[in-house]
Amino acid sequence: MERLQKLLQQAGIASRRKAEQMIVDGLVEVDGEIVTELGTKVEKSAKIVVDGKRITFEDKVYYVLNKPVGYVSTTDDEFQRATILDLVPVKERIFPIGRLDYDTSGLLILTNDGDFMNHLIHPRYKVEKEYHVKIEGLLRKESSAILAKGVDLGDFVSQPAKITSVKYDDKKTSTYVNIVITEGKYHQVRRMFEAVGHQVIKLKRYRFGTVTVKDLKEGDYRTLKPHEVKQLWNLAKHGK
Ligand code: URA
Repeated sequence: MERLQKLLQQAGIASRRKAEQMIVDGLVEVDGEIVTELGTKVEKSAKIVVDGKRITFEDKVYYVLNKPVGYVSTTDDEFQRATILDLVPVKERIFPIGRLDYDTSGLLILTNDGDFMNHLIHPRYKVEKEYHVKIEGLLRKESSAILAKGVDLGDFVSQPAKITSVKYDDKKTSTYVNIVITEGKYHQVRRMFEAVGHQVIKLKRYRFGTVTVKDLKEGDYRTLKPHEVKQLWNLAKHGK
Protein backbone atom coordinates (compact mmCIF):
# COMPACT_ATOMS: atom_id res chain seq x y z
CA MET A 1 0.00 0.00 0.00
CA GLU A 2 1.19 3.50 -0.78
CA ARG A 3 -0.02 6.95 0.07
CA LEU A 4 -2.41 8.15 -2.61
CA GLN A 5 -0.44 11.34 -3.35
CA LYS A 6 2.72 9.26 -3.84
CA LEU A 7 0.96 6.99 -6.33
CA LEU A 8 -0.27 10.01 -8.28
CA GLN A 9 3.24 11.40 -8.34
CA GLN A 10 4.69 8.05 -9.46
CA ALA A 11 2.18 7.85 -12.27
CA GLY A 12 3.36 11.26 -13.45
CA ILE A 13 0.04 12.97 -12.77
CA ALA A 14 1.55 15.83 -10.79
CA SER A 15 4.20 16.76 -8.26
CA ARG A 16 3.54 15.56 -4.71
CA ARG A 17 2.26 18.97 -3.64
CA LYS A 18 -0.07 19.37 -6.64
CA ALA A 19 -1.30 15.80 -6.16
CA GLU A 20 -2.18 16.65 -2.56
CA GLN A 21 -4.14 19.67 -3.75
CA MET A 22 -6.01 17.52 -6.30
CA ILE A 23 -6.97 15.11 -3.53
CA VAL A 24 -8.14 17.90 -1.22
CA ASP A 25 -10.10 19.42 -4.13
CA GLY A 26 -12.01 16.16 -4.54
CA LEU A 27 -10.66 15.32 -7.98
CA VAL A 28 -9.44 11.84 -7.09
CA GLU A 29 -11.58 8.73 -6.95
CA VAL A 30 -10.46 5.36 -5.61
CA ASP A 31 -12.57 2.30 -6.44
CA GLY A 32 -15.55 4.49 -7.17
CA GLU A 33 -15.32 6.79 -4.13
CA ILE A 34 -13.92 10.28 -3.91
CA VAL A 35 -11.03 10.44 -1.43
CA THR A 36 -10.21 13.82 0.08
CA GLU A 37 -8.14 12.72 3.04
CA LEU A 38 -4.41 13.18 2.58
CA GLY A 39 -2.32 10.16 3.45
CA THR A 40 -4.98 7.60 2.56
CA LYS A 41 -3.17 4.39 1.72
CA VAL A 42 -4.13 2.65 -1.48
CA GLU A 43 -3.07 -0.51 -3.39
CA LYS A 44 -1.49 0.05 -6.80
CA SER A 45 -4.08 -2.34 -8.19
CA ALA A 46 -6.96 -0.06 -7.10
CA LYS A 47 -8.99 1.74 -9.74
CA ILE A 48 -7.74 5.31 -9.38
CA VAL A 49 -9.47 7.96 -11.44
CA VAL A 50 -8.19 11.54 -11.59
CA ASP A 51 -10.36 14.21 -13.07
CA GLY A 52 -12.37 11.56 -14.90
CA LYS A 53 -9.36 9.65 -16.27
CA ARG A 54 -8.17 6.28 -15.04
CA ILE A 55 -4.46 6.21 -14.19
CA THR A 56 -2.21 3.26 -14.91
CA PHE A 57 1.20 2.21 -13.72
CA GLU A 58 3.23 1.30 -16.78
CA ASP A 59 6.77 -0.04 -16.84
CA LYS A 60 9.16 2.85 -16.48
CA VAL A 61 10.70 4.12 -19.70
CA TYR A 62 13.48 6.66 -20.25
CA TYR A 63 14.40 8.28 -23.56
CA VAL A 64 16.74 11.01 -24.69
CA LEU A 65 15.68 13.17 -27.62
CA ASN A 66 17.67 15.69 -29.65
CA LYS A 67 14.88 18.19 -30.26
CA PRO A 68 15.10 20.33 -33.38
CA VAL A 69 13.93 23.94 -33.41
CA GLY A 70 10.24 24.14 -34.37
CA TYR A 71 8.75 21.69 -31.87
CA VAL A 72 7.10 22.49 -28.55
CA SER A 73 8.28 20.44 -25.63
CA THR A 74 4.85 20.04 -24.09
CA THR A 75 2.88 16.97 -25.09
CA ASP A 76 0.05 18.91 -26.68
CA ASP A 77 -0.16 22.44 -27.96
CA GLU A 78 -3.11 24.83 -28.05
CA PHE A 79 -1.86 26.23 -31.39
CA GLN A 80 -1.55 22.78 -33.00
CA ARG A 81 2.19 23.11 -33.47
CA ALA A 82 4.32 19.98 -33.76
CA THR A 83 5.22 18.52 -30.37
CA ILE A 84 7.94 16.24 -29.09
CA LEU A 85 5.42 13.37 -29.24
CA ASP A 86 5.54 13.65 -33.03
CA LEU A 87 9.24 12.81 -32.71
CA VAL A 88 8.91 10.12 -30.04
CA PRO A 89 5.81 8.12 -30.99
CA VAL A 90 5.84 5.61 -28.14
CA LYS A 91 2.85 3.97 -26.48
CA GLU A 92 3.71 5.07 -22.94
CA ARG A 93 2.43 8.37 -21.54
CA ILE A 94 5.74 10.24 -21.43
CA PHE A 95 6.61 13.77 -20.40
CA PRO A 96 9.79 15.83 -20.61
CA ILE A 97 12.14 16.59 -17.73
CA GLY A 98 12.23 20.37 -17.96
CA ARG A 99 11.30 22.33 -21.06
CA LEU A 100 13.05 23.74 -24.08
CA ASP A 101 11.67 26.75 -25.95
CA TYR A 102 10.15 26.27 -29.41
CA ASP A 103 13.27 27.86 -30.92
CA THR A 104 15.76 25.98 -28.71
CA SER A 105 17.19 22.67 -29.89
CA GLY A 106 18.94 19.87 -28.05
CA LEU A 107 18.62 17.44 -25.24
CA LEU A 108 15.36 16.47 -23.60
CA ILE A 109 14.91 13.48 -21.37
CA LEU A 110 11.47 11.92 -21.63
CA THR A 111 10.01 9.51 -19.13
CA ASN A 112 6.83 8.24 -17.51
CA ASP A 113 8.61 8.10 -14.12
CA GLY A 114 7.24 11.01 -12.13
CA ASP A 115 9.49 10.37 -9.14
CA PHE A 116 12.60 10.48 -11.32
CA MET A 117 11.45 13.71 -12.95
CA ASN A 118 10.62 15.46 -9.69
CA HIS A 119 14.03 14.63 -8.26
CA LEU A 120 15.92 15.72 -11.35
CA ILE A 121 14.24 19.09 -11.65
CA HIS A 122 14.51 19.88 -7.94
CA PRO A 123 16.81 22.94 -7.56
CA ARG A 124 18.34 21.46 -4.40
CA TYR A 125 20.35 18.89 -6.39
CA LYS A 126 21.77 21.42 -8.85
CA VAL A 127 21.91 19.07 -11.82
CA GLU A 128 24.11 20.65 -14.50
CA LYS A 129 22.67 21.70 -17.83
CA GLU A 130 25.17 22.66 -20.53
CA TYR A 131 24.07 24.95 -23.33
CA HIS A 132 25.88 25.85 -26.55
CA VAL A 133 24.91 29.38 -27.42
CA LYS A 134 25.48 31.82 -30.27
CA ILE A 135 24.96 35.42 -29.24
CA GLU A 136 25.06 38.76 -31.02
CA GLY A 137 28.20 40.81 -30.41
CA LEU A 138 31.43 39.96 -28.68
CA LEU A 139 31.20 38.63 -25.15
CA ARG A 140 33.68 40.44 -22.92
CA LYS A 141 35.46 38.97 -19.92
CA GLU A 142 33.59 41.31 -17.58
CA SER A 143 30.23 40.01 -18.85
CA SER A 144 31.38 36.39 -18.52
CA ALA A 145 32.40 37.19 -14.95
CA ILE A 146 28.94 38.60 -14.18
CA LEU A 147 27.26 35.47 -15.61
CA ALA A 148 29.64 33.25 -13.68
CA LYS A 149 28.91 35.01 -10.42
CA GLY A 150 25.13 35.19 -10.81
CA VAL A 151 23.17 37.86 -12.62
CA ASP A 152 20.19 39.82 -11.35
CA LEU A 153 17.21 39.00 -13.59
CA GLY A 154 14.72 41.15 -11.71
CA ASP A 155 12.61 38.38 -10.21
CA PHE A 156 15.63 36.31 -9.12
CA VAL A 157 19.42 36.22 -9.16
CA SER A 158 20.79 33.29 -11.15
CA GLN A 159 23.01 30.81 -9.36
CA PRO A 160 26.68 30.84 -10.34
CA ALA A 161 27.25 29.53 -13.87
CA LYS A 162 30.33 28.14 -15.61
CA ILE A 163 31.43 29.62 -18.91
CA THR A 164 33.47 26.81 -20.44
CA SER A 165 34.31 28.12 -23.92
CA VAL A 166 34.19 31.50 -25.67
CA LYS A 167 34.98 31.90 -29.39
CA TYR A 168 34.36 34.88 -31.64
CA ASP A 169 33.15 34.15 -35.18
CA ASP A 170 35.47 35.01 -38.08
CA LYS A 171 33.70 38.29 -38.85
CA LYS A 172 33.88 39.27 -35.17
CA THR A 173 30.18 40.08 -34.98
CA SER A 174 28.98 37.21 -32.81
CA THR A 175 30.24 34.84 -30.12
CA TYR A 176 29.93 31.10 -29.59
CA VAL A 177 29.81 30.41 -25.87
CA ASN A 178 29.21 27.32 -23.75
CA ILE A 179 27.53 27.84 -20.41
CA VAL A 180 26.68 25.41 -17.62
CA ILE A 181 23.82 26.29 -15.27
CA THR A 182 22.19 24.37 -12.46
CA GLU A 183 18.70 25.86 -12.64
CA GLY A 184 15.97 25.66 -15.23
CA LYS A 185 13.80 28.74 -15.00
CA TYR A 186 11.70 29.93 -17.93
CA HIS A 187 13.89 31.43 -20.71
CA GLN A 188 16.76 31.44 -18.27
CA VAL A 189 19.72 31.31 -20.64
CA ARG A 190 18.25 33.88 -23.02
CA ARG A 191 17.48 36.17 -20.09
CA MET A 192 20.95 35.77 -18.61
CA PHE A 193 22.64 36.85 -21.85
CA GLU A 194 20.14 39.67 -22.39
CA ALA A 195 20.94 40.90 -18.89
CA VAL A 196 24.55 41.47 -19.98
CA GLY A 197 23.51 43.05 -23.29
CA HIS A 198 23.51 40.15 -25.76
CA GLN A 199 20.62 38.71 -27.78
CA VAL A 200 20.73 34.95 -28.20
CA ILE A 201 20.81 33.92 -31.87
CA LYS A 202 20.94 30.15 -31.37
CA LEU A 203 20.50 27.99 -28.31
CA LYS A 204 21.10 24.28 -27.93
CA ARG A 205 21.06 22.16 -24.79
CA TYR A 206 24.01 19.84 -25.17
CA ARG A 207 24.14 18.07 -21.81
CA PHE A 208 21.86 17.24 -18.91
CA GLY A 209 23.82 15.84 -15.95
CA THR A 210 25.82 12.93 -17.36
CA VAL A 211 23.93 12.56 -20.66
CA THR A 212 24.81 14.43 -23.89
CA VAL A 213 23.45 14.56 -27.44
CA LYS A 214 26.92 14.04 -28.90
CA ASP A 215 25.98 10.94 -30.94
CA LEU A 216 22.35 11.76 -31.58
CA LYS A 217 21.19 13.50 -34.75
CA GLU A 218 18.63 16.29 -34.46
CA GLY A 219 15.14 14.78 -34.50
CA ASP A 220 16.39 11.36 -33.30
CA TYR A 221 15.83 9.73 -29.93
CA ARG A 222 17.07 6.63 -28.15
CA THR A 223 16.37 4.67 -25.00
CA LEU A 224 18.64 5.55 -22.10
CA LYS A 225 20.83 2.62 -21.08
CA PRO A 226 20.26 1.23 -17.56
CA HIS A 227 23.62 2.59 -16.36
CA GLU A 228 22.70 6.06 -17.69
CA VAL A 229 19.42 5.99 -15.77
CA LYS A 230 21.34 4.90 -12.68
CA GLN A 231 23.83 7.75 -13.05
CA LEU A 232 20.98 10.24 -13.38
CA TRP A 233 19.28 8.79 -10.29
CA ASN A 234 22.55 9.32 -8.43
CA LEU A 235 22.61 12.95 -9.53
CA ALA A 236 18.97 13.31 -8.57
CA LYS A 237 19.81 12.13 -5.08
CA HIS A 238 23.23 13.64 -4.50
CA GLY A 239 23.51 16.51 -6.96
CA LYS A 240 25.62 17.87 -9.89
N1 URA B 1 17.06 28.67 -21.44
C1 URA B 1 16.31 29.31 -22.35
O1 URA B 1 16.30 30.53 -22.40
N2 URA B 1 15.58 28.58 -23.20
C2 URA B 1 15.58 27.24 -23.22
O2 URA B 1 14.89 26.62 -24.03
C3 URA B 1 16.36 26.58 -22.26
C4 URA B 1 17.09 27.32 -21.38
